[in-house]
Amino acid sequence: MNQQQRLHYLKKAAALSNRDITIIHDPLSVFNFDDANRMIENAIGMLVLPLGIATNFVINGKEYVLPMAIEEPSVIAASSKAAKIAKIKGGFTAKADRSLMIGQVQLVSLSTPLEAAKENILVNKEDLLHLANSKSKSVIAKDLEVRGIQDKSQNTMGEMLIVELIIDTQDAMGANAINTMCETIAPRTEELTGGKAILKILSNYATRRLVRCKAVFDKSELGGEHIVKRILYAYAFAYSDIYRAVTHNKGIMNGIDAVALATGQDFRAIEAGAHAYAARDGTYRSLTRWYKTKEGDLAGEIELPMSVGTVGGIASVHPIAKVALKILGIKTSQELAMVLSASGLAQNLAAIRALASEGIQRGHMKLHARNIAAMAGAKGDLIDIIANRIAEENSININRAKEILKSLLSKTKQ
Ligand code: MEV
Repeated sequence: MNQQQRLHYLKKAAALSNRDITIIHDPLSVFNFDDANRMIENAIGMLVLPLGIATNFVINGKEYVLPMAIEEPSVIAASSKAAKIAKIKGGFTAKADRSLMIGQVQLVSLSTPLEAAKENILVNKEDLLHLANSKSKSVIAKDLEVRGIQDKSQNTMGEMLIVELIIDTQDAMGANAINTMCETIAPRTEELTGGKAILKILSNYATRRLVRCKAVFDKSELGGEHIVKRILYAYAFAYSDIYRAVTHNKGIMNGIDAVALATGQDFRAIEAGAHAYAARDGTYRSLTRWYKTKEGDLAGEIELPMSVGTVGGIASVHPIAKVALKILGIKTSQELAMVLSASGLAQNLAAIRALASEGIQRGHMKLHARNIAAMAGAKGDLIDIIANRIAEENSININRAKEILKSLLSKTKQ
């Protein structure tokens, strides 16, 4: 399909309006320098990224088209292919926790012994929760916990009391509301402990907001039993070696970040939480788990913290993010979390399947060949013609692309 045909397909599939289509087609008509300048400081312009769609995703029995903002070739094709294989065995099954986030207040220089300070906070828990909730309508502090910790840095700053609010942010990511709540209760926690409140901030390690996703991939679609075995070796490598685990997880984040970016999520928060979770047993490991089913097919699972929102933040104000959410047709932040986890799992399967079989470079370079052809100066149809030639010749480099372009242009002149 060309761009018009893809947009036409999307318009029908996601019930988009003419305005939504204009927003995708001509983003600068709805998001201009003034918007950018309002959003950040010292703005000088805008960075434009490609926006594409991954297809074939069935998650909990529902079909999704995934908007992905990404500059890397292969990712969208790979996701769509993996989702297509997953579909054969029913697609992805996902489950997301409630949107419980943690807000932290750090108290130092306590004038009361640690255990007594803890007790004072806990005795006043209901009052503190009431205070936290006094400024918020939809985001609700549900619980409060305390922990004593010891400085382990070289500065030996001593003992600290950490007061943690457990906050249900519902369909928001919730950062602003959580930070406000922490700042609101901080003076009272100082009074109760005789300490000094230093930091008041959310934790991006959202371990009470986990998402889990699973899928089974048909062995013959993957290339046979020997490929399943090779994929299990790939997983063994990622589980057991940090150097491989980081790259393995980077591939997962290719899928997650692209959808997160398109839908206006704080992808740095997702990244930070994901990598910490990958190291939860003390060693950094693969975020996915792969194994063989009784039938010899390949099953994959992913579990990670996922703090995302469908209301508030950029997701509510950026016109393209709003259309991206509409394309997904999702209603809640939990549903978005499930889609993101499926995107990560699919991306991981595609990467390790390619790596464990023909290798990543063939497909990757074939797609990259189009960039090379364009860089060589090709326009329109010539891009694909030259890209195919340099890929066939296995000489994907700019000099060869320029030579072919020159010869094709001189032929058209004759
Ligand atoms: C490239 O962006 C991602 C991969 O390196 C992931 C992996 O090695 O699993 C292909």
